[in-house]
Amino acid sequence: MSRSILVIIIGWWFSLLLMGIEGLGVNWGTMANHKLPPKTVVQLLKDNGINKVKLFDADQSTMNALAGSGIEVMIAIPNNQLSAMNSYARAKDFVRRNVSRYNFDGGVTIKYVAVGNEPFLKSYNNSFLNTTFPALANIQNALNEAGLGDSIKATVPLNADVYGSPETNPVPSTGRFRPDILPQMTQIVQFLAKNKAPFTINIYPFLSLYANEHFPVDYAFFDGVATPILDNTIQYTNVFDANFDTLVSSLKAVGLGDMEIIVGEVGWPTDGDRNANTNYALSFYRGLLPRLASNKGTPLRPGYIEVYLFGLLDEDIKSIAPGNFERHWGIFKYDGQPKFPMDLSGQLQDKYLVGARDVTYLLKKWCMMRPDAKDLSKLGDNINFACTFADCTPLGYGSSCSTLDANGNASYAFNMYFQAVGQKDTACGFQGLAMLTDTNISQGNCNFMIQIATASPSTRLTLLFGLTLLLLSLSLL
Ligand SMILES: *[C@@H]1O[C@H](CO)[C@@H](O)[C@H](O)[C@H]1NC(C)=O
Ligand SMILES: *[C@@H]1O[C@H](CO)[C@@H](O)[C@H](O)[C@H]1NC(C)=O
Ligand SMILES: *[C@@H]1O[C@H](CO)[C@@H](O)[C@H](O)[C@H]1NC(C)=O
Ligand SMILES: *[C@@H]1O[C@H](CO)[C@@H](O)[C@H](O)[C@H]1NC(C)=O
Ligand SMILES: *[C@@H]1O[C@H](CO)[C@@H](O)[C@H](O)[C@H]1NC(C)=O
Repeated sequence: MSRSILVIIIGWWFSLLLMGIEGLGVNWGTMANHKLPPKTVVQLLKDNGINKVKLFDADQSTMNALAGSGIEVMIAIPNNQLSAMNSYARAKDFVRRNVSRYNFDGGVTIKYVAVGNEPFLKSYNNSFLNTTFPALANIQNALNEAGLGDSIKATVPLNADVYGSPETNPVPSTGRFRPDILPQMTQIVQFLAKNKAPFTINIYPFLSLYANEHFPVDYAFFDGVATPILDNTIQYTNVFDANFDTLVSSLKAVGLGDMEIIVGEVGWPTDGDRNANTNYALSFYRGLLPRLASNKGTPLRPGYIEVYLFGLLDEDIKSIAPGNFERHWGIFKYDGQPKFPMDLSGQLQDKYLVGARDVTYLLKKWCMMRPDAKDLSKLGDNINFACTFADCTPLGYGSSCSTLDANGNASYAFNMYFQAVGQKDTACGFQGLAMLTDTNISQGNCNFMIQIATASPSTRLTLLFGLTLLLLSLSLL
């Protein structure tokens, strides 16, 4: 074999290895009762070749764990801090404390600052309508003033309900920004364009299905449909493409059809709704990931798309206002263990992802309903109490524990509470209705979980070690 052919083959092999992984990021949310240590999560990302991550804040412990990892990061400013960022002084302070501070060799590779999170969501009743743009402008200007503006861009992750097509002609090419927010959207996209910053959009085929029971199920996936949507000469066979191209048309309508677009969130939940299950999630990712890896793009925007999956881990204290599925978006379970086989490189070589290492669990102790409980008059109140402070979403209709009988239901609720409070001895009383067991009382697909220990001995040791170092360095001064 000639040397040049060998070089070509090796080059091809390497491009295959890198393909897909290059663009793929994940959202790392931390709304969990018992969080995995940030270092464990960063190792999980590395073990699975994930080198982009999107956060929902700029929490110090998360940032410290990411330091030196080389992972590219999108940090975020929560919606409730947008009005504060309408002060340029506050914005500069944010950039100093949460961006510049990590900008050193061995620090954190920040690429983007997300200003707000879906601030124009209809259900927020315009609460952030007037504060989002000034916050965006102040943050980017502060980044520019700090000399970071070329490499770090401010952007606003928006929900796909900021645009749409008229009901009379619902095709992607007629996409326009929502009339009630058009002035704000125009201001934002013009500012992003001027600063060469991307538009960030969250696209959820699952929510299309959830919101409309007549929505054609096949259209949420990527396996083709019986009746594609015909838009002039273009046929659309999945809602991801159609939605993305509706955005492209909306941008074109305000004169910025070429603006870079990042998909800030896309994914499929595995519990909490009849359409939220492992099989659907598996199909969704088996369709999405190879498409992303092929760099085929969408009909109106061929080519590579930067995408962040939602999400990395299940989050058991997320608000369930949008639906019970909210706590089950992870490609990993609460404890960093994979839920189903997948191939992040988009080559369909599905296998279980590498799970989180060295996870410390609480003892193998469960809390259950006493089989001989007599006075059941207070059972309802006790279940309510447990489910107010712990996650009972798997009990709902169409979910993983929906087939339990009444006693099973009570046991599930009691155990979730008992685990949430760290297996405190006093937490398995429920007015005499509950008792401890060391038998795994899981049933079928319904897992009676054992929580993870919040601070493992090694984290405590690290803290102690850090404190000792700090005291030492202070005494040296
Ligand atoms: C920014 O950094 C400060 C100082 O560490 C911290 O108190 C604040 O919570 C950070 N902001 C966000 C949004 O995480
Ligand atoms: C928006 O308005 C609705 C109806 O008036 C109300 O139920 C809801 O709590 C409001 N949401 C917010 C975020 O203010
Ligand atoms: C936003 O500004 C507009 C125009 O100044 C005003 O009419 C509207 O009440 C403001 N909305 C909110 C939620 O503050
Ligand atoms: C179990 O709990 C769920 C959620 O609280 C409820 O919808 C269901 O009816 C209960 N099932 C039984 C058998 O009690
Ligand atoms: C309990 O059993 C379930 C189902 O068999 C299993 O998936 C789970 O890992 C078990 N839990 C523990 C802590 O062993």
